[in-house]
Amino acid sequence: MKMRKGIVLAGGTGSRLFPMTTAVSKQLMPVFDKPMIYYPISVLMQAGIQDILMITTPHDQVQFQKLLGDGSQWGINIEWAVQPSPDGLAQALIIAEDFLDGAPSALILGDNLYFGAGFSQTLKSAQDNQNGATIFGYQVRDPSRYGVVGFDGDGKVTSLIEKPDHPASNYAVTGLYFYDPHAPEYARSVKPSERGELEITALNDIYLQCGELQVEFLDDGTTWLDTGTPRSLLAAAQFVSVIEERQGLRICCPEVEAFRQGWITSEQLLALAKQLRKSGYGSFLARIAAAG
Ligand code: G1P
Repeated sequence: MKMRKGIVLAGGTGSRLFPMTTAVSKQLMPVFDKPMIYYPISVLMQAGIQDILMITTPHDQVQFQKLLGDGSQWGINIEWAVQPSPDGLAQALIIAEDFLDGAPSALILGDNLYFGAGFSQTLKSAQDNQNGATIFGYQVRDPSRYGVVGFDGDGKVTSLIEKPDHPASNYAVTGLYFYDPHAPEYARSVKPSERGELEITALNDIYLQCGELQVEFLDDGTTWLDTGTPRSLLAAAQFVSVIEERQGLRICCPEVEAFRQGWITSEQLLALAKQLRKSGYGSFLARIAAAG
């Protein structure tokens, strides 16, 4: 089995954040102290994934490249692709087919934020599961905004419905998906939905119908936030600020994840910190490097 590769989808027009996103990509907007895209990238790194394809809109790619480069500063390899128009999340697997080259994948949406003590373990079990697909359910107050999980009387997952008017449960499907090597081929068989998109829920439903879908439920100790509306963006920034200020640390920093994984040395981390020395982010990195 080949090593799992990562895909970050940072396409879309960010229309729910207009006019904030008229000139700037949504996933480059700040969530408190760092660009939104750092959060999903650090999740893939936490899962041990070093080969990552970044999918952006054609016009935003240059700015993402300015921020992330080829990933070597963080001990990872970032490759680049574009999604010319927002034709659905499942299209990411088709765009990534050559990059994946038969490897299993983990797709994460560029506006999703995960944080929690047990989350590393959750990622590890998804990473170890080589067959089929693994997706994550999370209890929310407003499931109609998301893909929603339906269960039978025994608690077995029986349906996945995208943005239902009458949700079968309060469990939303989050924006992180682990797939076996069949995903690009299955994605090509997905037909556009009524809103004209290749829905990720339709791809996941193929795995469900074959009996190859694993749904893991994130526990109370894990926080999952999306940042697609002004209010959810503010809530995410407040969440990060409360955690970081209280404990005097920073969360979801790719530099720190790279260091923890042993992909960069403390000297390399210190060099990254020096480039950012005028910000609290830079001082935090320097502190981690000094603690070794
Ligand atoms: C997408 C997916 C949806 C999922 C959500 C998670 O929706 O289509 O199934 O629950 O991401 O963030 P979007 O936010 O693109 O409308």
